Amino acid sequence: MNENVFTDETMTEDIENHSLRPKYLTEYIGQSEVKEMMNIFITAAKRRNESLDHVLLYGPPGLGKTTMANIIANEIGVNIKVTSGPSIERSGDLAVILTSLEPGDILFIDEIHRLPRIVEEILYPAMEDFVIDIVVGHDATSKSIRVELPPFTLVGATTRFGDLSAPLRDRFGVVHKLNYYSEDELTEICARTARIYETTIHEDATTEIARRSRGTPRITNRLFRRVRDFADVLNDGVISKKMCEIALDKLHIDHLGLDAKDHAYLLGIIDNFEGGPVGLESLAASIGEEPTTIEDVYEPYLLQIGFIKRTPRGRVATDKAYKHLKKKHNMRLF
Ligand code: ADE
Repeated sequence: MNENVFTDETMTEDIENHSLRPKYLTEYIGQSEVKEMMNIFITAAKRRNESLDHVLLYGPPGLGKTTMANIIANEIGVNIKVTSGPSIERSGDLAVILTSLEPGDILFIDEIHRLPRIVEEILYPAMEDFVIDIVVGHDATSKSIRVELPPFTLVGATTRFGDLSAPLRDRFGVVHKLNYYSEDELTEICARTARIYETTIHEDATTEIARRSRGTPRITNRLFRRVRDFADVLNDGVISKKMCEIALDKLHIDHLGLDAKDHAYLLGIIDNFEGGPVGLESLAASIGEEPTTIEDVYEPYLLQIGFIKRTPRGRVATDKAYKHLKKKHNMRLF
């Protein structure tokens, strides 16, 4: 078992983002409702000297679920153990983690919807009564031993709220959806990132990066770093709007922040399936992407900006998408 399994890309970004991540609620930009509620729940738990109720955070990738989990631990002043659904393969793996927690600790499980069912079932009594039942021995000689756990807080994160089983979902006392950020919030995040990296950036450059960030701070920080590379190599390191345009155009990120993969997805519907409706599997096969990547990464933002619709018969590209891609509807004669 590996307690910290992330994809290579996330891993690199995780290390790079470490110093960028806000550590306390007051430093966290955006998601004001979530911040306000978490502040109350954290303050109440601290005053009563109790562990915080279990928290479920859901929403598209890159919006700050992991950051929020770390902030919760910092605000309470406890340790956080980080793991993820797919990296816990057996019940014993989870039992090891749970029994190593100190009173009040946070256990963060990313992609909690991918926990194997058998492992998930260990979580139910752990969350509800702070106990686990461990089976020792084999067959006829096997018996179950009850182990007490210290009170702890589970923070679960998922991009797929609908994939959680009802019994797991119901055991979280606090449930928050993280939403896409506004352009103003992303502008503020970009300016903050520039301050941390001690880079000079023009005001209209921060808005340009924000505008092309698909509502997602992780993308803001990624674009910031790429533009900074261009500014360092081609200029004096100062980030101007012009430098943003040069860099982002070279990276094939259009004015709305859609990248080559978003374009491939939309053109897939428009060119290969006459604008839809098309089923997820057929579309995925036609553009060589995993259906889950399409559903978790590309579609949420395209739905949000009204470029696609999900109908019972499949995905449809909207007029807005046609206009943006300068495409004409094919006349259907029959
Ligand atoms: N960096 C990434 N996300 C952030 C956020 N929500 N607030 C401040 N800095 C961030």
